[in-house]
Amino acid sequence: MNNLKPMRCIGASLFAALMGLLFLAGFVSGASAQDTPDAGPKPSLVVKPMESHIDNITGHAANAKSDYRRYCAGCHGDYGDANGENAVWLDPKPRNFTLATFKCRSTLTGTLPTDEDLYNTLVRGIVNSNMPVWNTFTKQQRADLVAYIKIFSPRWEKEKAGEPIKIPAEPPVTIDSIAHGKALFTKLECWKCHGPHGEGDGPSASTLTDSQDNPIRPYNFALGKNDSRFKCGSTNQDIYKIFMTGVDGTPMPSFADVIQPNDAWDLVHFLRTLQIHRHGKENEVLMSAHGVIPPYVDKNPAPAAAPADNKAPGGGQ
Ligand code: HEC
Ligand code: HEC
Repeated sequence: MNNLKPMRCIGASLFAALMGLLFLAGFVSGASAQDTPDAGPKPSLVVKPMESHIDNITGHAANAKSDYRRYCAGCHGDYGDANGENAVWLDPKPRNFTLATFKCRSTLTGTLPTDEDLYNTLVRGIVNSNMPVWNTFTKQQRADLVAYIKIFSPRWEKEKAGEPIKIPAEPPVTIDSIAHGKALFTKLECWKCHGPHGEGDGPSASTLTDSQDNPIRPYNFALGKNDSRFKCGSTNQDIYKIFMTGVDGTPMPSFADVIQPNDAWDLVHFLRTLQIHRHGKENEVLMSAHGVIPPYVDKNPAPAAAPADNKAPGGGQ
């Protein structure tokens, strides 16, 4: 029995020493967190001197260090790789900034967004996702964060942002415009993913995945209430941009090569009628047509294809 005593003694002092160490460790890490609030991730991260330009404001990456760590890293990760501690719980996943692929752009598919595009995303947040609205920041803070997003991918040092697409003035909403939009929706097979009534239930819908192999559902137009917002904005111009530039990193393609700029407005007008709970010009026009979209009749049909050796003079197409 006697020989147990020293054992117990050693056990007890070991325990005390361990507790002491734990306490010390807690104290030290607590203290160092206080003394240097921005110790930064380990291994440390090189904050490249990236800039952003929003109107007359210049954003500097270095100034966004603590804002990013405090407000963004929890989802987007210290290294911008979408591995923040909350990311596992989120669907859709946070954006992985190391890929520099962005959904909300005014620029053609595959190109980098403009500083304004990123800035506007921070102002707006992303509806139907966990990306919050950041309206408590100053303009300067947001500009600095936009610059900070650029430190994570070398693309920002090698490439310029794409050119914003040109959007012609919106023509009046008429039932003909809506009818033409509907014809385009059918012809371009938007319905295959979005469903015939835009409810996100097309035949391909359940099979779609994004570029990170996460399942992704096409947007359900019918869900939007009166304030119906899209991920990348809420105006008719924003919808125009979405399908002309595509939602990069998802199966939602860009139609800039297929749709003529003016025809795109007809498609916008039709898409608005799929938002059945929305009060707006498009649904008013549809109501006055007794809720019936007439079949589209092409008033300027393209001339019948000429044989290859008999091209129209003047390079006509
Ligand atoms: C609670 C989680 C969360 C936090 C915090 C968060 N984000 Fe996000 N963020 C997301 C998610 C989720 C997405 C992707 C949404 C989607 O794909 O629909 C996203 C997307 C983005 C995008 C991509 C926009 C595009 O066009 O693709 C940017 C830029 C962005 N976040 C910046 C930030 C910045 C800057 C902060 C900090 C001020 C921040 N986020 C904080 C969850 C978060
Ligand atoms: C291959 C499938 C597919 C086709 C074809 C397709 N879409 Fe999409 N679309 C999607 C997916 C998936 C999303 C959701 C992307 C996301 O949530 O990030 C989407 C999103 C959208 C959005 C934005 C919704 C939002 O939340 O901001 C609009 C607008 C849209 N599509 C319009 C169209 C139009 C118009 C056509 C045809 C000209 C079309 N789509 C064709 C799959 C498709």
